[in-house]
Amino acid sequence: MALRTVVLGAGHVARSLLSLLCRNEVADHLQVLGVADRSGAVLDLRRPQLRELAARKAAGQSLRTQAAAGIGRFHSWDAPRLIAEVRPDLVIDLTPSRPDDPGSRHLRIALEQGADVVTANKQPLAWRYSELTGLARRHGRVLAFGATVGGAAPVIDLVRYGAWADQVVGLRGVLNGSSSLAADLVAAHPRIGWEGAIAQLRPQGVLEEDWRLDLHGGDLAAKGAILANVLGAPGHTPLDIRTLPITDLSPSEVAGAAETGHVVRYVLAIGEGHASVSPQVLPKTHALATTGAMAAVEVATALLGPLTLHGTGAGAAPTAGALLADLAQVVAFRQGRSVPPEGWGASAARPPSVSPSVRRGPPLLVPPATRKGQRPALSVRPVE
Ligand SMILES: NC(=O)c1ccc[n+]([C@@H]2O[C@H](COP(=O)([O-])OP(=O)(O)OC[C@H]3O[C@@H](n4cnc5c(N)ncnc54)[C@H](OP(=O)(O)O)[C@@H]3O)[C@@H](O)[C@H]2O)c1
Repeated sequence: MALRTVVLGAGHVARSLLSLLCRNEVADHLQVLGVADRSGAVLDLRRPQLRELAARKAAGQSLRTQAAAGIGRFHSWDAPRLIAEVRPDLVIDLTPSRPDDPGSRHLRIALEQGADVVTANKQPLAWRYSELTGLARRHGRVLAFGATVGGAAPVIDLVRYGAWADQVVGLRGVLNGSSSLAADLVAAHPRIGWEGAIAQLRPQGVLEEDWRLDLHGGDLAAKGAILANVLGAPGHTPLDIRTLPITDLSPSEVAGAAETGHVVRYVLAIGEGHASVSPQVLPKTHALATTGAMAAVEVATALLGPLTLHGTGAGAAPTAGALLADLAQVVAFRQGRSVPPEGWGASAARPPSVSPSVRRGPPLLVPPATRKGQRPALSVRPVE
């Protein structure tokens, strides 16, 4: 039987996913009953209407206007009310990664009501990983978040693979494509400086609304917190990632690196007792010397050696593709066909093999005193 599904958010990623669902076989196992945005929700959608809803929303039509034109039935409900009224089997959260973090509330309510959850929204997992995965475990539900890190590149799956198969001794990743594009612009035109690069990239929609998330490290720190938790460092948040702005490198340093066959990339590194985000000068031939906005990650394991992955790092369509992979896992789990992702029963999933020793790296900001000493630190060794 098809999983009764609601989609929270009708932005770039949601629209791309809704269009894909019209032609992907995963969709045969889902019945999208409702879609919500900030104005309310539409219900009673039929599958062929999903693509039309996406196209009309992209053209600026609100869900209310669309309902008047026959695309579903409009309710001025917020997302929690939609979940409470529909009581879906599956909630797909595609609301923004904003500081006020609407996603955490959505995830909590969905899991407490017994729904599986698939999300591309980083903030809930970055700040409340233990709470949310614990909630999923207690309710016997899947919480799948492969689309939160790496876009189309299945970075979280690779990290899990390394941790389940072997001992992960560290990882390094170039997982923010916007900062790579900015660095390449500065390298080619040092006179424009970082400000000039920001001014050029902003109209292209490449940077976050607050560009500091890309260039001062907030986005990478959130991804780092998620990966640290996946690696078995419970309770790590973005505050535990030592973060240096990529803009700390001067334009002449960036251009100088290019002249000697190097590129500047903003690198997330998780190693023994530390996790950091910092600009790195890499030889152009290095595995992490990505082109354009590509993502790359290198996972170092004790026996398997380095595992390296490249993929399209961001964008609505690659992210929607990653969501399809997570949705396929939920469907498989519901059919009793596979080991579920993180957050499900401890009896089914082997824990990561990173040992919980208690060394920790210097945090960017001092965490609240009440939490001091409560968390085990990362125990992985740095990659050479
Ligand atoms: N875009 C990417 O390349 C990418 C890649 C990886 C992950 N992600 C993550 O995926 C998520 C979606 O990204 P996006 O690019 O699609 O964002 P977006 O275009 O800004 O769309 C966000 C959608 O969420 C809706 N929304 C906001 N607050 C809401 C609330 N409280 N309840 C219900 N709906 C709400 C918005 O409604 P309105 O339409 O009414 O404004 C909008 O439709 C974000 O968390 C982002 O970080 C995005």
